[in-house]
Amino acid sequence: MKPRLWAIGLLATVLITACSRVQSKCSSGCDLALASYYVRQSTTLSFISQVLSASVADIVSYNKDKISNPNSVQTGFRINVPFSCGCINDSFLGHEFSYTVTQGDTYDEVATQYYSNLTTVGWLQAFNSYPATNIPLNSVLKVVVNCSCGNGTVSKDYGLFITYPLRPVDTLGSVEAEVNLPRTLLQSYNPGVDFSQGSGLVYIPGKDANGNYPALSPSTGTAGLSVGAIVGISIAAIAVLSFLAFCIYAGIYRKKKAKEAILLSGAHELSDRAGNGSDPAKPSESTGPAAGIIGITVDKSLEFSYEELAEATENFSLANKIGEGGFGAVYYAVLRGEKAAIKKMDMQASKEFLAELKVLTHVHHLNLVRLIGYCVKGSLFLVYEYIENGNLSEHLRRSDKEPLPWSTRVQIALDSARGLEYIHEHTVPVYIHRDIKSANILIDKNFHGKVADFGLTKLTEVGTSIPTLLVGTFGYMPPEYARYGNVSPKVDVYAFGVVLYELISAKGAIVKANGSIAESRGLVALFEEVLKLPDPREDLCKLVDPRLGDNYPLDSIWKMAQLAKACTQENPQLRPSMRSIVVGLMTLSSSTEDWDVGSYENHALVNLMSGR
Ligand SMILES: Nc1ncnc2c1ncn2[C@@H]1O[C@H](COP(=O)(O)OP(=O)(O)OP(=O)(O)O)[C@@H](O)[C@H]1O
Ligand SMILES: *[C@@H]1O[C@H](CO)[C@@H](O)[C@H](O)[C@H]1NC(C)=O
Ligand SMILES: *[C@@H]1O[C@H](CO)[C@@H](O)[C@H](O)[C@H]1NC(C)=O
Repeated sequence: MKPRLWAIGLLATVLITACSRVQSKCSSGCDLALASYYVRQSTTLSFISQVLSASVADIVSYNKDKISNPNSVQTGFRINVPFSCGCINDSFLGHEFSYTVTQGDTYDEVATQYYSNLTTVGWLQAFNSYPATNIPLNSVLKVVVNCSCGNGTVSKDYGLFITYPLRPVDTLGSVEAEVNLPRTLLQSYNPGVDFSQGSGLVYIPGKDANGNYPALSPSTGTAGLSVGAIVGISIAAIAVLSFLAFCIYAGIYRKKKAKEAILLSGAHELSDRAGNGSDPAKPSESTGPAAGIIGITVDKSLEFSYEELAEATENFSLANKIGEGGFGAVYYAVLRGEKAAIKKMDMQASKEFLAELKVLTHVHHLNLVRLIGYCVKGSLFLVYEYIENGNLSEHLRRSDKEPLPWSTRVQIALDSARGLEYIHEHTVPVYIHRDIKSANILIDKNFHGKVADFGLTKLTEVGTSIPTLLVGTFGYMPPEYARYGNVSPKVDVYAFGVVLYELISAKGAIVKANGSIAESRGLVALFEEVLKLPDPREDLCKLVDPRLGDNYPLDSIWKMAQLAKACTQENPQLRPSMRSIVVGLMTLSSSTEDWDVGSYENHALVNLMSGR
């Protein structure tokens, strides 16, 4: 094993070195982007043409349905203006327009009126040093408008993007209606953005002059990294890194959890299903929708020196420790200016996991916690993106945390369902988390959920010589798994159902009665008892997290409870798939949004009245 690890390490180093030349966030942009310009009273097409330096004819060609007479364009709606989207200062995608100052212009007017909020005062001031109170007449302002060239991790079907300033009347619903694209897609391209926030930019797939959505071009689909070859190299590098990480991770896992493990005979089938490959050096074999989405993570994928990690964590000080899991301690770090979470684990490698490499390397998704890099030095250190707001379990049960509003809980459920759906349905072969629980759902700074620790899954599917261990956490394990070790995606569905019950009640998966473990019972049983009553709604209220007060729509709670019940059915075949759970939660989420945001109806009304 050791020599092999060495070779892999060496290979990784070479690849990383090859990649590290491209440390900038973008190297080139794309030929085309669109700016959504809101036509105010008295704005003419020629003015727009002037400030955004596009010909009137070009503008018309992208707005054929909206502009019938270029000389008198209607006001009160948006048009799309084409511009080229480049890489500015090696760090972000944008275009620098020039605006010649006339008498009395202020930054505010330039941003909010002339450029229709495609830029902001702050962003203007970042590129222009004239004092706000005294912009010289006839000086030329640099007006930078941000843009997007697409995101291969979200979809390859869209390759042209509208820079879309949100207006005070906008909501997710109104934007969805205006652009006629599913809200989930809009949200995926703008993670964590509240479409009702009244200002700020979002990026929305746009149509070309022929009225079609152009697909992502292979050279621009990686949010900045534009050279296909680099992406290729990077995929290989990530593959090697993840593999390295995981074989070691796997070794540790065995060692640590062997004591509490239950040996199971039924688990071999799984190994047979998954473990076909013995040649780890062929990551390209994987196909399917997950392939090729890794590019976005690549420029940040790094090997760190122990010294650097030690410094970043103040010598792995207690003060920096943010958690302790079954695998080791987790530390907060600031690494190269970025926040990270470092998991420190005793190292032990195991060759059985070679075959799993290619699968694991293809798993990257917005709702999965991302692995940034690693370090091997005595121990193994895995460097993850830092997720600002800790784990869901803390938010539900720690009194020093603000109670999560109901709409946020629904959102977190939907986010984690999406992460899980991804690993269940979009990787080849599909795979299973097996340790879904609220402690493994992390909350980012925008209160979106991300599933952590998904690497655990493959461990039991590997190595036919040793009987597979039961992984997972009591309280979250379905009966067929706890008893017979039967594994299917429905194991995660069950555990997810338990998380849904937790979101409703804020109780743990195992509820201690009278403070004693002996009298403890499962959360599933607790809910089932209530849900089977002839008229359960009233008793259901008693299970609702008291910290929600009256601030919840009972109907939404009821639906989530029904969903949780379906997920935790004894018969795994009757449990819904993660895909249909995502659909269910999307519906719940949109109705909850109505309920939760008091001003939503007003927004909708305003939109109607303004004919939008
Ligand atoms: N990327 C991260 N960003 C921020 N905090 C994290 C991150 N990863 C882990 N943590 C914190 O550290 C805790 C421990 O993480 P870890 O995944 O090692 O253990 P666990 O999920 O509690 O248990 P197990 O290892 O048995 O699954 C998490 O619950 C979380 O609070
Ligand atoms: C730009 O934003 C400001 C503040 O939200 C708003 O008052 C103004 O109407 C917006 N301008 C346009 C053209 O939408
Ligand atoms: C444009 O993008 C940069 C870099 O991501 C960001 O800092 C800036 O705030 C953005 N500007 C606007 C107007 O959104």
